[in-house]
Amino acid sequence: MFNTMTITKVVGGLCGTFLIFLFANWAGTSIYSMGGAGHEGEHAQAYVIATGEEDAAPAEEVVQVSFDELLASADVAKGEKVFSKCKACHKVDGTNGTGPHLDGVFERVVASVDGFAYSDGMMAHGGAWTPEALNEFLLNPKGVVSGTKMSFAGLPKIEDRANLVAYLQSISG
Ligand code: HEC
Repeated sequence: MFNTMTITKVVGGLCGTFLIFLFANWAGTSIYSMGGAGHEGEHAQAYVIATGEEDAAPAEEVVQVSFDELLASADVAKGEKVFSKCKACHKVDGTNGTGPHLDGVFERVVASVDGFAYSDGMMAHGGAWTPEALNEFLLNPKGVVSGTKMSFAGLPKIEDRANLVAYLQSISG
């Protein structure tokens, strides 16, 4: 028969086991969550770096794609208005002014108009006036062709450059 002492021992033993179990469980959980936190920390850091790279890479691409895209949907009439900034020096009737005539400039070899006295910088530039070359030059003439005698600050708006290039293409048939 169980007497009080036996019941006390059994209950005590069970409680002890239960406490050890709780303690082991607690210790296990803390170690696990410490490991978990560390892992999450690393994971979060890796994620931030990856996001940074993902953000940077497409941004560059977007700039490149967008000039082509803007050009594809450019507005020639708006480009003709932008060209009013060039008219003081450039004519489009085959005669030269302060600058060489720009009819036919689209895809024309750089510095190739007969009878126009180009700067040494422009003569040395080389290549042809592709949409990309015009885009680059018109953003920052003096930065792209060092020593150019074209006194023009540049067109900071990419839309203006795209519309203007479309206009130059339209008069270069
Ligand atoms: C203040 C006068 C002036 C203005 C304004 C000006 N240009 Fe020029 N441009 C020149 C001169 C001068 C040259 C020759 C540059 C050289 O030889 O270095 C030139 C050269 C160029 C060339 C190279 C042509 C070739 O035959 O290789 C292009 C393209 C051009 N200009 C486009 C433009 C456009 C587009 C605008 C308006 C957004 C503009 N320019 C505004 C004076 C001007």
